[in-house]
Amino acid sequence: MSTETTPEYSPGLAGVIAGETAICWVDPNAGLMYRGYDIHEMAQKASYEEVAYLLLNGELPNGKQLAEFRQQIAAQRDLPAPVVKMLRLLPRSTHPMDMLRTGVSMLSAFDDELSDNSHAANIRKSIRLIARVSTLITDGWRISQGEEPLPERPDLTQAGNFFYKLNGSVPQDWQIRMLDTIFILYADHEFNASTFAARVTASTLAGIYAAVTSACATLKGPLHGGANEESMKMLEEIGTPDRAEAWLQEKLATKEKIMGFGHRVYKKGDSRVPLMREIGRDLGKRTGKEQWVPICEKLEETMEREKHLCANVDLYAAPVFWMLGFPPALDTPIFAASRVAGWCAHVTEQHDNNRLIRPRSLYVGPKMRPYPGVASDGATSK
Ligand SMILES: CC(C)(COP(=O)(O)OP(=O)(O)OC[C@H]1O[C@@H](n2cnc3c(N)ncnc32)[C@H](O)[C@@H]1OP(=O)(O)O)[C@@H](O)C(=O)NCCC(=O)NCCS
Repeated sequence: MSTETTPEYSPGLAGVIAGETAICWVDPNAGLMYRGYDIHEMAQKASYEEVAYLLLNGELPNGKQLAEFRQQIAAQRDLPAPVVKMLRLLPRSTHPMDMLRTGVSMLSAFDDELSDNSHAANIRKSIRLIARVSTLITDGWRISQGEEPLPERPDLTQAGNFFYKLNGSVPQDWQIRMLDTIFILYADHEFNASTFAARVTASTLAGIYAAVTSACATLKGPLHGGANEESMKMLEEIGTPDRAEAWLQEKLATKEKIMGFGHRVYKKGDSRVPLMREIGRDLGKRTGKEQWVPICEKLEETMEREKHLCANVDLYAAPVFWMLGFPPALDTPIFAASRVAGWCAHVTEQHDNNRLIRPRSLYVGPKMRPYPGVASDGATSK
């Protein structure tokens, strides 16, 4: 018989406060704040590096600090040669998120500060991780396409270098600005599943590489980061705005989950959607691919009417990445290239004030019963 009272239970930890953070606040009424700053203005005016600095250090950098931080990241982008060799050994069909997870895990072996969980060492390792997660994605992609990785361009920002390392040409300023905005929108989101996974791992006092490896593994799933890649498949299947409503009705009738819709916290709209939709509209005009945003809008309208569910950022991120020239397989890795700053900030915060994260479960198995002593196949226990 149970010797304890039934603990409170919330499936999926919905609504549970699982820890404190000073990094990010998600307002269920469609707001988002990084360390007290509304992301909307920053997304349009700040750079990704400025936001990464803010997330990691708690305050915005001054001009000199920002220049130094940019330089530090740019100087750490090269991968150790054995890591590049490992990327070459993976089958060409390996998903870029699996390449990334394997690469982050392997990078740990090449970091002299691996076992140092002090604040200062975590910040230094965060800079290396922010730099190298992007390189793992771009080099891994080129290798999987039978092409050689390109040398780094330390003069380019994270966003600029990401474009350059994929296709060998320096993007136009507006393209860099757009990717910067997208990186800012994705940089953190409090206790989302991958960040929580990172914090659980860090709470055992495992290091930042172990935690970011957990985060990459968790991000890949279609209910979390993988939703943007799945959204693009859906939009391609729909093809034109006039087909969107019928397509959706059919899927809802068979109770299918629609990627890019719903959110655990936001119930009145995702704070990042309006900006991502605007970017999509702008890109539609620039590229002549003006069908994607109207398809998304038709889906939004129908989903709101039928299920009272709002779009999340991944619905619009999918066509935005496509119009920026990125293949859908890189949608979730692009998310990771940005979110790594949030993961690192959370791991550092966890280590700075650690308590093991270890919840309880609600036992629903058989009641206590007598052990029969002999296994059913007749073998005796030793
Ligand atoms: C994000 C997500 C996992 C949140 O899950 P959750 O908080 O557990 O949401 P709930 O299961 O409580 O949703 C409430 C209801 O809406 C339905 N629902 C939620 N998201 C849905 C979706 N995308 N498509 C269809 N129905 C959905 C649920 O099935 C549930 O219906 P029910 O009450 O009839 O069972 C979920 O909305 C989802 O799977 N979305 C699609 C994947 C996605 O876009 N992920 C990226 C998130 S940023």
